[in-house]
Amino acid sequence: EAIEKGGYEHFMLKEINEQPRSIADCMRGRLDSRAGRLILGGLRDYMNKFQNADRIIITACGTSWHAGLVAEYLFEEFARVPVEVEYASEFRYRNPVINSRDFVIAISQSGETADTLAAIELAKQKGATIFGVCNVVGSSIARSTHAGSYTHAGPEIGVASTKAFTAQISVLSMMALMLGYQRGTLPESKYMELLSELEAIPAKVEKALKLNEQIERIAAQYKDARNFLYLGRGYNFPVALEGALKLKEISYIHAEGYPAAEMKHGPIALIDEEMPVVFIATQDSSYEKVVSNIQEVKARKGKIIAVVTEGDQSVKKMADHVIEIPRAHEAFVPLISVVPLQQLSYHIAVMRGCNVDQPRNLAKSVTVE
Ligand code: AGP
Repeated sequence: EAIEKGGYEHFMLKEINEQPRSIADCMRGRLDSRAGRLILGGLRDYMNKFQNADRIIITACGTSWHAGLVAEYLFEEFARVPVEVEYASEFRYRNPVINSRDFVIAISQSGETADTLAAIELAKQKGATIFGVCNVVGSSIARSTHAGSYTHAGPEIGVASTKAFTAQISVLSMMALMLGYQRGTLPESKYMELLSELEAIPAKVEKALKLNEQIERIAAQYKDARNFLYLGRGYNFPVALEGALKLKEISYIHAEGYPAAEMKHGPIALIDEEMPVVFIATQDSSYEKVVSNIQEVKARKGKIIAVVTEGDQSVKKMADHVIEIPRAHEAFVPLISVVPLQQLSYHIAVMRGCNVDQPRNLAKSVTVE
């Protein structure tokens, strides 16, 4: 086991640190921005169905569902196609309205999640085309879908999913760019620019990983907190959900993720000087709005930990801690902004003496209902 951990104390830390490589592996042979090439072999025979679908339905559980939420923003922005993101456990029992013009994407690291498998079977019966985004080669979900693309993140051992999440988003980003280009909603120049933006992500993740020591110091200050709030908007809203899930599952601290603007409809009542609030406040189209949400928390004396774009000055004046990550196109920021949140949950859990790789009550893949 020590050899498998490659010198790291835990699989989770190893897997967090593997992300520059796992994202690059996921894009290898598929994306070449200089040649203007983007190919997903799994889509070849289904491109027609994908391109002409009336609607995309994404189904998954947990972290994979969060990747699906990011994809909703990607597909809608670049390909202008309606998207629904469904918890597989709800979808399978809801008698959903689906037909043969729907394109269903099932996302799963393990490829063995019982609810996701059942959702696939249901959608299949109703005549939809099902595309799998799985990490485990030859898994049940990979076999039960019409077609699919593997995430190629390599084995993920830690129960808390990290590198599988960023690999899922990488595949879904490539799918969204292909779809936008084919449907004519993404002009060629924009498409080419986005290809190189996406290709530049692994190096930026590498840079973000260097914040580890700063994050360890922040973790030491908040390890005894009883609650955490995670807030983000737009592409960073699913990242807020994912940050909160990571903290809950491995440190057993109660954490909630919310769209930052939704805070005023309830969670704002929780804020006092005891409440750490993690904002993902990178410079994107919702930046100004997030800054005013930060002010609202500040006014109520909440402790602010903000993930910001390198060089940000405004948030620095308000936040207790700023974590500066490299600038990227806003559509691809989740691939970077999630990394410090993974590290924060990891360090807090280690400091609390928790079993990081195998948290209580959880299994790596949930093969029962
Ligand atoms: C992630 O950290 C969780 N352990 C869990 O939510 C997981 O993402 C979920 O069970 C789905 O698993 P899958 O991707 O293997 O289908």
